[in-house]
Amino acid sequence: MNHTSCSVPRTSSQPAVTRRQFLAGASAAAVGFTILDPALVRGADANAKLNLGLIGCGGRGKWITGLFAKHGGYNIAGVFDYFADRANEAGDQFKVPAANRYTGLHGYERLLAQPGLDAVAIISPPYFHPIQAAAAVAAGKHVYLAKPIAVDVPGCQTVADSGRQATAKNLCFLVDFQTRAHPAYQEVVKRVHAGQIGRLISLDAGYQCDLYFEGMDAEFRKSKRDAEARLRAWAIDRVLSGDVITEQNIHSLDVAAWFADAAPLKAYGTGGRARPFLGDCWDHYAVIFYFPSDVTVSFSSKQVGFGYDDIMCRAYGMNGTVETHYSGKVSLRTKDDAFNGDTRNLYEDGAVRNIAAFHEAIAKGDFANATVPPSVRSNLTTILGRTAAYANREVTWTEMMQKNEKLEFATSSLKG
Ligand SMILES: NC(=O)c1ccc[n+]([C@@H]2O[C@H](COP(=O)([O-])OP(=O)(O)OC[C@H]3O[C@@H](n4cnc5c(N)ncnc54)[C@H](O)[C@@H]3O)[C@@H](O)[C@H]2O)c1
Repeated sequence: MNHTSCSVPRTSSQPAVTRRQFLAGASAAAVGFTILDPALVRGADANAKLNLGLIGCGGRGKWITGLFAKHGGYNIAGVFDYFADRANEAGDQFKVPAANRYTGLHGYERLLAQPGLDAVAIISPPYFHPIQAAAAVAAGKHVYLAKPIAVDVPGCQTVADSGRQATAKNLCFLVDFQTRAHPAYQEVVKRVHAGQIGRLISLDAGYQCDLYFEGMDAEFRKSKRDAEARLRAWAIDRVLSGDVITEQNIHSLDVAAWFADAAPLKAYGTGGRARPFLGDCWDHYAVIFYFPSDVTVSFSSKQVGFGYDDIMCRAYGMNGTVETHYSGKVSLRTKDDAFNGDTRNLYEDGAVRNIAAFHEAIAKGDFANATVPPSVRSNLTTILGRTAAYANREVTWTEMMQKNEKLEFATSSLKG
């Protein structure tokens, strides 16, 4: 199963098109422009670029906007961040006029109303992803969304719905998982789904890294625990981030759910906090997931300590084994065959591929938005693990979905 239907191969000999045809997407495809090279869009009409707005001007927001700019098929037309210093930093970096820099809690609504805006890249704290993505689709904009898509079950349902609405409105909605965009990951998943390693028995999934987010802690200690301080320190805040298992560890659990090609039935877990942060996220987890067909996923993570960094998933089958590492080796071994791939530089390479795929999908009129359902599934998988670990008992998928727990963040003291 290929989860990257937004990705299409490039060719170099397509006819030039106007901005109108390009943005028409589906109609461009209908007249035969099955694939569009960004250079041709540029060559045909200097304006034939997607006008992109950035939502969330932090570290990744500015970094990935640089990649959008480098691609050549995007104008950076507007920027939004809750904080003016952040919006201005990004605005200065990408030469966005002062009038197109937006701030405050509802600033993204003003960005979405900016004339000529075609698409948004949502790189804000995860708590805000569902509402900002839904507003973007309602406003008729293509959406490029950072993982995780949401912090809770209702948020995941909102994003699932936005993905379907985007398809109905001929809009592209792409969730940026770098692993799913990489040919080596796609190849081993294809082989596992085709049965090459035999019946799947079990998987190991892990995300181990050193201490993180100390900068946010320092920021947080200076201020009271008010809403703005929480926004600045979102990644050590359970509600705004979804906790480490959802915000970070999703990279590994997404691959596990991709191999299993299913949602887990139930999970049992534990974990805790060893780092001395003021935030309330845990920093280590151990969870057993039970998938259909008696497949178990044994997952562990840590974001504390020193000396070991890896994002991995290993799938054991009756006839072979697959091993994947984010930014490392991706390999498959059976008695008769082997595949060896390398995903070095995946962090950047994956984003570059997704940015190109987003542009090409819009040009081609491919609005299947196939990255959305697996992103919803793996996001819910992390929430199941979190729920089971917090409760330190077995929790079923059905129980989690029925409970439909919403994480709440009081915004009344924030600027509008
Ligand atoms: N490999 C990956 O795919 C990857 C890597 C890093 C981050 N991310 C994701 O990107 C997102 C941002 O992470 P980051 O590392 O840039 O964090 P960051 O803290 O550097 O930036 C977050 C920005 O969001 C701003 N913000 C706060 N509230 C906001 C709101 N309501 N609306 C818009 N912006 C708001 C903050 O002021 C800050 O500038 C997160 O979802 C994170 O999980 C993905």
